[in-house]
Amino acid sequence: MAERKISVGVIGTGWIGEIRAKVCAGHPLVESLHLAEIDPARLERVARETGAKTATTDYRELLRRPDVDAIFVSTTPETTHYPITRDCLLARKHTFLEKPMGLALKEADEMMAMAREAGLKFTIGYTQRFNPKYAYVKKCVRDGTLGVPVTALVSRNVSRSIGNKIGGRIRLSPAVMEATHDIDFILWCLEGRRPIRVYAQSVYRIMEQAHGVPDCTWIMVTMEDGTAFTIGAGWALPPGYPHFSTATIEFVATEGALLIDDSHRDIVLNTMKNGMVLPLSTMPGEQVGHVYQGPMRAETIHFIEAVALDRPVLVTPEEARQVMEVTLAADLSAEIHQPVSLPLER
Ligand SMILES: NC(=O)c1ccc[n+]([C@@H]2O[C@H](COP(=O)([O-])OP(=O)(O)OC[C@H]3O[C@@H](n4cnc5c(N)ncnc54)[C@H](O)[C@@H]3O)[C@@H](O)[C@H]2O)c1
Repeated sequence: MAERKISVGVIGTGWIGEIRAKVCAGHPLVESLHLAEIDPARLERVARETGAKTATTDYRELLRRPDVDAIFVSTTPETTHYPITRDCLLARKHTFLEKPMGLALKEADEMMAMAREAGLKFTIGYTQRFNPKYAYVKKCVRDGTLGVPVTALVSRNVSRSIGNKIGGRIRLSPAVMEATHDIDFILWCLEGRRPIRVYAQSVYRIMEQAHGVPDCTWIMVTMEDGTAFTIGAGWALPPGYPHFSTATIEFVATEGALLIDDSHRDIVLNTMKNGMVLPLSTMPGEQVGHVYQGPMRAETIHFIEAVALDRPVLVTPEEARQVMEVTLAADLSAEIHQPVSLPLER
């Protein structure tokens, strides 16, 4: 298909939707931007700052526009992901859905079938695949530098502001909301191998009283070829830079290993007002003057280009469904204190 400009809609212009909208607004392949947001003040501000062509509080109005080719679904609470995405696909829009893909596997199955039957691009926001450090691990596995994978570890802690933000709107676990990024990353690196068993443990000490959710979950996944990896995800760090995230990655294989520092401790800002903080330390990143720091801009552009230039999406819905199955198994395992075998029974 020849290159053509596209019109893009963003549904939900909170923290993440605003980033998506601003990247779209500045991209030469985007003809026009259309926004839907139920908070009128937020809608008005983001529409003004992006020069959006239309803005509505009813996303169905946006979906009725025949000129809109593609949609970012960036709404919360996460119960909105499935019904809004289903409406987007029914309206024959190419759709980018933020993680998690849905709350139940049957939702994922239905959306995947709809996209496939209608020939639409459908992808899920696993943003860290667009972080060069993470892409480097994938590259070194793919080109043979590391040999055959043996084991991997991702330990991530984020600040309580995230746990409180998520816990304040919905009772979803660190497995479904946070570990999901790192499970996707390692499964992507281990492409071609299937996860067969999940064991997880959660700790309840801080967030339970306010939100009924654990502070952290540690998840061990075994693949069919015997490779085993561990993901730790916690959201109990004290406040610091808003939405601070720190991660350590170890990827060990037969011919080599990669040890990656994604701790975000490389920039220290010290002010009389707030003391020391670690700026530019969120997972999606942020705009810094004329440049964007972090992976979300590249991810957003990737989807724009996939639609406008008819290129494949990097994150397939089948992969996202597999990640979802592992996160659901992790929650179940943590609850019953037993390993859980995959595939999960429907
Ligand atoms: N990829 C990443 O790195 C990353 C990081 C953070 C969050 N996320 C995901 O992105 C999604 C959005 O997170 P957020 O932090 O921006 O949330 P948010 O709460 O800041 O924003 C969500 C917005 O959706 C709006 N909304 C809700 N229902 C709507 C509807 N029916 N129509 C239009 N707008 C509606 C809300 O008013 C709100 O402004 C979440 O599902 C989250 O899991 C991804």
